[in-house]
Amino acid sequence: MQSFLDEIRAAIAAETGLEEPKLERPRDPSMGDAAFPCFVLAKERKAAPPKIAQELETALNARLNRIEAKATGPYLNFTIERALLAESVLTAITEAGASYGTSSEGEGKSIVIDLSSPNIAKPMSVGHLRSTVIGAAIQRIHNALGYKTIGINHIGDWGSQFGKLVAAVNRYGDTVDLENDPIPSLLKLYVRYHEEEEDDPTLGEEAAAAFRELESGVDGPVRATWKKLTDLSLVEFDKIYARLGVQFDLVRGEAYYESHLEKTVNRIVDAGITEESEGALVVDLSSFGKIPPCLLRKTDGTTLYATRDMAAVFHRWEEFSFERCLYVVGGDQRLHFRQMKHVLDRMGLDWEPRVEHIDFGMMRLPEGKMSTRKGRVVFLDDVLDAAAAEAKRVIEAKNADLADKDATAEMVGVGAVVFNDLKRERVKDIDFKLEEVLSFEGDTGPYVQWTHARLASIERKVGDVTEAPDWSVLASAAPILGAMGRYSDVLRSAARNAEPSEITSFVLSLARDVNSWVAQERVLGQEPAVTAARLALVQGARQVIGNALTLLGVGAPMEM
Ligand code: ARG
Repeated sequence: MQSFLDEIRAAIAAETGLEEPKLERPRDPSMGDAAFPCFVLAKERKAAPPKIAQELETALNARLNRIEAKATGPYLNFTIERALLAESVLTAITEAGASYGTSSEGEGKSIVIDLSSPNIAKPMSVGHLRSTVIGAAIQRIHNALGYKTIGINHIGDWGSQFGKLVAAVNRYGDTVDLENDPIPSLLKLYVRYHEEEEDDPTLGEEAAAAFRELESGVDGPVRATWKKLTDLSLVEFDKIYARLGVQFDLVRGEAYYESHLEKTVNRIVDAGITEESEGALVVDLSSFGKIPPCLLRKTDGTTLYATRDMAAVFHRWEEFSFERCLYVVGGDQRLHFRQMKHVLDRMGLDWEPRVEHIDFGMMRLPEGKMSTRKGRVVFLDDVLDAAAAEAKRVIEAKNADLADKDATAEMVGVGAVVFNDLKRERVKDIDFKLEEVLSFEGDTGPYVQWTHARLASIERKVGDVTEAPDWSVLASAAPILGAMGRYSDVLRSAARNAEPSEITSFVLSLARDVNSWVAQERVLGQEPAVTAARLALVQGARQVIGNALTLLGVGAPMEM
């Protein structure tokens, strides 16, 4: 069944010739279920919006069935007959099930998403967690709209610090347990090397020589050691990705672009926009305001993070002809991405606007309280462990008979951390407070998960109902139905803005409304046609909440 919003849009389109008429939500829900602002037609019709609304009212009422149009000032408000609203929304949800809300509008278009991208030999930071969680949600949202998406983990595995690391492993490798505790060990070696280098300049030369060998491409012992520490780090990162349920289409570190660097630099030079500055090769960006030049090659001939990102973006464009290339990276790299875009702009590449920095704010962990386990530096794992343990404690207290408590605790604990990360506009900073994140009341993941389980439990209690629903009894659920009918619009907007928080807000408000509705309306023990209609609402809401949680990367438990 066509959703009522599509029906209204189609009628407006047929009447006005507008290609994609935009519908809004009336500020006051009693005014209607959807509103069309008539301002967009003022120019072409040479009339004031209220007059246009008046004219359209009659025409649209003639076109629409069981949907009433009413002009109110410059708006045309639409009210769907209550029974039709319930029937159309709930039938659409039942028919589509897990794909409710999805569409194929992105078909044939590719979206590249650069996400997570931690640095080898270092613990994954909370910033990388945010990138992983936000990036993966953005990818799932685009998948739901039919886009082809390519999630790329742009691992930080190149740069002069790797010369130092290789040299450090050579010198002191046997003083640590690299295999079993790779990241803290590498961190320790790096720090020690750094310290001893101050008294012994030969160490600096050794590190430089190792990096030169690495950059030369020689497949010798240096490269073998570099490869080993890369692999060891990736195994550690994979443990976190597994807990978050995140996979990548490509794990392509900076090193991957090593063989592209020369032609990348040449291409920018050939565009005629580079200059020498104290022996280094730079692109001047002063025409864009007060912004430092983009450094492509240092005096000693080595390349930089920016050079490798230029190589990557050219390669991605050649490989995928992307509709958008989204870099999910913290706001502290704003300058870097501005410089990169300005270079593309100066090169005259018309696809420059497709490259977007999807920035986000900082997450502050409480100092001390959730500090690192002794000797273990990968504190992300600790955050997830702490969350799962706390979830287990709450489950023990609330539902000790639950069948698989550990699995549910992991789903709730990890889900809580993920939901918390996606709940505000991404540019906002977050103060991470475990008690708040895990609260079963309030704007949290566990609250939404609990709502999902609550609805599932009602469904189990009611069982199958064969009677046809009496849709007219769902009048009190009109705001819930209206919201669920708008779900695909929410997905579309969340994709356009690369803003998963639009889905978290949606699902939080849906959960709140459904919980108050459930507290007022009994499902069991009614006339069968009434039970059937209310059960359909419960099922529909559970499905939509479940679909939304899945897109966010949060598990939807049937019981908790
Ligand atoms: N490894 C970088 C860091 O941790 C992030 C890389 C982001 N992606 C990119 N293409 N620059 O700071």
